[in-house]
Amino acid sequence: MAQARDQWTTRTGFILAAVGSAIGLGNIWRYPYVVYDNGGGAFLLPYFFALLTAGIPILLLEYSLGHKYRGSGPLSFRRLSKKWEWLGWWQSLIAFLISGYYMVILGWALSYTYYSFGTQWGSETQTFFLEKYLGAADFGSFTPQLKVLIPVVLLWAFVYYVMRQQAHRGIEKLARILMPLLVIMLVIITIRGVTLPGAAEGLNTLFTPDFTALADPQVWVAAYGQVFFSLSVGFATMITYASYLNKKEDLANSGLVAAFANSGFEFMAAIGIFGALGFLAAQSGVGVDEVVNQGVILAFVIFPQIINELPFLNSFFGVTFFGALVFAGLTSIVSLLEPAISAIRDKTGAARTTVVNWIVGLAALMSVLYATDGGLNYLDTIDHYLNSYGLLIAATLMAVATAWTTRKVGELQSHINQVSDVHIGKWWVICVSVVTPVMLIIMTGLNIRTEWLVPYSGYPMPWLIGMGWGALVAVLIAAVILQSKEWKVNTGQAEQQEKEGA
Ligand code: PHE
Repeated sequence: MAQARDQWTTRTGFILAAVGSAIGLGNIWRYPYVVYDNGGGAFLLPYFFALLTAGIPILLLEYSLGHKYRGSGPLSFRRLSKKWEWLGWWQSLIAFLISGYYMVILGWALSYTYYSFGTQWGSETQTFFLEKYLGAADFGSFTPQLKVLIPVVLLWAFVYYVMRQQAHRGIEKLARILMPLLVIMLVIITIRGVTLPGAAEGLNTLFTPDFTALADPQVWVAAYGQVFFSLSVGFATMITYASYLNKKEDLANSGLVAAFANSGFEFMAAIGIFGALGFLAAQSGVGVDEVVNQGVILAFVIFPQIINELPFLNSFFGVTFFGALVFAGLTSIVSLLEPAISAIRDKTGAARTTVVNWIVGLAALMSVLYATDGGLNYLDTIDHYLNSYGLLIAATLMAVATAWTTRKVGELQSHINQVSDVHIGKWWVICVSVVTPVMLIIMTGLNIRTEWLVPYSGYPMPWLIGMGWGALVAVLIAAVILQSKEWKVNTGQAEQQEKEGA
């Protein structure tokens, strides 16, 4: 017997949950280092190009799929066409895989919120993070690190509690409480960042375009990857969330609000962070580029250093920064888990609590891998492959499924326009069916070539292929198997099922 779908209480509830999903580690932890690694200011051009021609159009595509077909990823794709159900599974399972390491970064952030009291990391912040905290070792090392494991377990317990409730009681309420707090925290961080001595130098670095970077395909790949990850598209999250939205609610408007809130947040965070980097550079008498450390560890090595140098209220700003990471991440991790939970419930008709026990339990088990001494390598590898390849391939396939094989883009456009105030025009169809897939295919091709020649991050190739491609292929196989299983619920058109469910 089909159960009634979870439903947001209001459109505001939906927007808050969607913005909560979008604003996460991607905005605070990832964005600054991605901008930095990819030519600073020059990155903004590909970024806005990707946002306007791919991010927002695909976001609206996901909204329309979930809202029209009223299902999780697999159910919506199944209703689009029987052949494409697996794509919904693949996306939902990739999101589930991400949740495993995403939580570990939240665990680091929680530890660092605690360490902020009295700046317990001391003056050697890199040694503290890598050696004392992570106990970082090479690939092939699997000794669990209690310091990492404990906060991770605490966070999982909390997330489990949230996820057991129906979406409007759990996810929505969490977003309603945390999002306003987060905005206040961001304003504090940004104001502090730009008012520090030397901030101008940092902002110059952020805003001075290095146009040669535009010729580098990697920069474009990074821009698309960042936009998609940050907006939470490509992983069936937004399909699932839109399926919980009342039938008559506006889509285009909500999509634009969510997208601009997300980019605005990211931008503000970057301004605050680069201001602070400028300050650190001035304090240490070096150029801004010299204080920026490699990728993932920026927030945990450089930030503590900045906090050490602040003239006053050091602990307070530390707690605000790392606390903001935790809050932002919590409203996102629930959205990485919900696609798989919703999908399994749709397929089997099982109760929410049963499915949550399994999904959260397994995700928490996965986290243990990243909470080991070799964890940083595994995390970086998996993050890179799921986001640079999985995401771009999944988004391309979504365009192929809706625009090329089933030719339903026109119908989806009418659906959006029927319920929305702002009408979307031909540009949307062109972006979804031509511009985005063509760009994504070219970039993925180039990326595979480059990384074939020079392995990502200089990591050993067998590990990269085994873990990176291995994870993607494993969930692909799982997706195909799941598609072959029978549905315990009605997969007929949405209206029909709704009547039965009611
Ligand atoms: N958008 C989230 C962030 O910026 C991550 C995320 C990606 C969440 C995909 C859900 C789906 O951190």
